[in-house]
Amino acid sequence: MKITVIGAGNVGATTAQRLAEKEYGDIVLVDIVEGLPQGKGLDLMEAGPIYNYNCKIVGTNSYEETDNSDLVVITSGLPRKPGMSRDDLVKVNADIVKSVVGQVVEKSPDAILIVVSNPLDVMTYVTYKVSKFPRERVIGMAGVLDTSRMRNFIAMELNVSVENVHTFVLGGHGDTMVPLARYTTVAGIPVTELIPEDRLDAIVKRTRDGGAEIVSLLKTGSAFYAPAASIVEMIDSIVKDKKKILPCTVLCNGEYGFYDIFIGLPVKLGKRGLEQIIEIKLNKEESEALKKSADAVKKLCQGISF
Ligand code: NAI
Ligand code: 2OP
Repeated sequence: MKITVIGAGNVGATTAQRLAEKEYGDIVLVDIVEGLPQGKGLDLMEAGPIYNYNCKIVGTNSYEETDNSDLVVITSGLPRKPGMSRDDLVKVNADIVKSVVGQVVEKSPDAILIVVSNPLDVMTYVTYKVSKFPRERVIGMAGVLDTSRMRNFIAMELNVSVENVHTFVLGGHGDTMVPLARYTTVAGIPVTELIPEDRLDAIVKRTRDGGAEIVSLLKTGSAFYAPAASIVEMIDSIVKDKKKILPCTVLCNGEYGFYDIFIGLPVKLGKRGLEQIIEIKLNKEESEALKKSADAVKKLCQGISF
């Protein structure tokens, strides 16, 4: 197994660290900044004797070493600063992602691509268009992160284990994301029976604003521990062919009534990548919220030229 991570910044380097600790295989870390991926790669290798991982971690500024990767994680691009929305990053990150994806697919035509750069739904669409890969092999990471945030907030509210909490956050990775309180359970009990409506509404709002909350605290960048953990959760299901159902950003071919758009939906992830989109029943309010979110993503995609 060979996994390439493009972008050796906060998310990319933390992902490489987590992947090394899992020992799935060798790792290649790519960045445009000279010395950065080499330094972080070597530093990670030097932690191997303590953590007992034996994988090779190579840092590089070129794509030579990435050839025949099984999985490529794309984190290259700018993170937002306080006051910026994810959408403010669209032009600059689209140019970065286009150039990166062109070079990635030349070396690894059979890889599964996991996109992380923001605005996520648009960057996953850009990756799909540029790579010309089948939709099964182009998947965006956002829903696992947003869902993990909501699970954490619910566990904090009830003072229970995060392991007991299950939920789904669907839609675009932005202000219009759709946290599904109705599909949220705590040890199998519907959350609506455990948390009063006003508190649940506050948790849904905090989930929607989860990325901005971290940005306003950090001031110089955005979240990376939970994002990296979310990427590894997806990779784990793919590498081990677990077929976990996770909310991921995928191309719709009519599912939920959408066409030619990437949006967060519940999907089954296995060794072939996206193996199935699960269609769950949504009530009128949830359907309208998902449609609103899809419209926002579509509008942002219209500004991109290929
Ligand atoms: P960062 O600034 O720490 O790292 C980005 C890295 O990309 C930098 O090291 C930079 O040199 C590199 N880079 C820029 N252009 C490149 C190119 N052409 N080729 C190779 N490397 C290039 O940013 P961070 O925090 O790692 O975030 C990365 C991206 O991921 C941002 O767009 C951020 O908004 C997004 N993000 C998305 C999340 C999601 O849920 N989908 C969660 C967290 C971050
Ligand atoms: C987040 O939600 C920045 O999109 C990233 O933290």
